[in-house]
Amino acid sequence: MQVLQNVSLKPYNTFGIDVRATYLTEVFTIEELRQIILNNEWERVPKLILGGGSNILFTKDFEGLVILNRMKGIQVREETDKHVWLRIMGGEVWHELVVYAIQHGWGGIENLSLIPGLVGAAPMQNIGAYGVELEKVFDSLEAVDMETADIKTFSKAECAFGYRESVFKKELKGRYFILSVTLRLDKQPVLNTSYGDIKQTLADMRVHEPNIHSVSEAVIKIRSSKLPNPAEIGNAGSFFKNPEISKEQFESLVAQYPVMPSYPLPNGNLKIPAGWLIEQCGWKGKQVGHTGSHAKQALVLVNYGGASGNEVKALADDIRQSVQDRFGIDIVPEVNIV
Ligand code: EPU
Repeated sequence: MQVLQNVSLKPYNTFGIDVRATYLTEVFTIEELRQIILNNEWERVPKLILGGGSNILFTKDFEGLVILNRMKGIQVREETDKHVWLRIMGGEVWHELVVYAIQHGWGGIENLSLIPGLVGAAPMQNIGAYGVELEKVFDSLEAVDMETADIKTFSKAECAFGYRESVFKKELKGRYFILSVTLRLDKQPVLNTSYGDIKQTLADMRVHEPNIHSVSEAVIKIRSSKLPNPAEIGNAGSFFKNPEISKEQFESLVAQYPVMPSYPLPNGNLKIPAGWLIEQCGWKGKQVGHTGSHAKQALVLVNYGGASGNEVKALADDIRQSVQDRFGIDIVPEVNIV
C-alpha cells in the first residue's frame, strides 16, 4: 500500500477546491482496505473515504488519511427472464455503468445518465434525476465497517433511503466503506419519460418510439445544456435540496407568488424547486468573488477558479438567508461540507 503525504485534494473534488490531506492512499482490493483499518498505526488517524468527490465541499485541510476507492468489477449475480442482478464494485464510474447497462439492453438507470461520481457513492445520497431515484433499482450493498473491518450486507430497508438521503448520511455517517452495490435491472425496460423536460427533448429529437438508449441521450442533452461540466467549471451539482413545505405554507405563498412551481408529495406537503427560490432572490448567474450561482441553473454553485471552500460556503449561507428572509423557507445543503 502506497501512502502519499501532504497531497493537494484539488484533483479529487469536482468543486476543484485546493485543500491538502495529510495522507492519501488508493485501495484496489478489500484486503488493502482491511489492512489499513486493522493496522495500529492508522487506528487513531481520522479517515475520509472519497469516491468521485462530486458531492463534497472542502473548507479546510483534511488532517488525516484520505482513502480513494479504486475497486473495480461488474458481475451478473443472478438472472431471470425479466431481470438481471448486477453486482458492481464501488470504484466503478457511475456513468460507465449506465452505458454498460444500456449496451446490454438492461433498463432502469438510463434516467440517471451522466451523474458524476462513483458507484460506491450512489447509495449515500440515493442519487436521483428525471423522475428516477437509485432506490427504485437497488437490491442491496456490501460495506466494510471502518472500525472492525467486518463486511456487512445492507438490504434496501436497512439503507433507509429518502430524498437525497440514506442511513450513510445520518446515523452511520463515516462508519462504512461501500464495497459493492447490487442493482436489479429490467430486461424488458419500462421507460420513465414523465419528467417534462424529457418528453420535450425526445420530441425535439423527433423520437416517436423511445427506448432506453434515446431516453439516455435525452437526459444527456438536458444535463449538458443546463449543468456545468465539472471538468470545465468546478461544481458539485445541486448545492441545496429542494425544500418540502406544508400545504398551509404553500397556500399563503402561492397567493403572493402565483407562478411559484411546486410538486405535490404523497404526504400532502409540496416540494418547491430551490432553483426557483434562489432565482427569485436575484442570485442566478451572479458572480461573487471566485464563486457564484450558475447562469443556467441557479441551484448549482460554481468555482470560477481559485475559490476557497469558505468562499463558496459564505455564498451558500447568504443565499440560504435570503431565501429564508423572503419566503420563510429553509433550504438545506445537499453537498457534504467538510
Ligand atoms: N428553476 C428555476 N430556476 C432555476 C432552476 C430551476 O426557476 O435556475 C425551476 C423551474 O421551474 C424548473 C424547476 O425549477 O422547472 C426544476 O428544475 P430542474 O428540472 O433543473 O430540476 P431541479 O429541481 O432544480 C433536481 C435535482 C437535480 C436533477 C434534476 C432533474 C435536486 C436537489 N436536484 O433539480 O439533481 O438533475 O432535478 O431531475 O433534487 C443533483 O442532485 O446534483 C442534481 C443535479
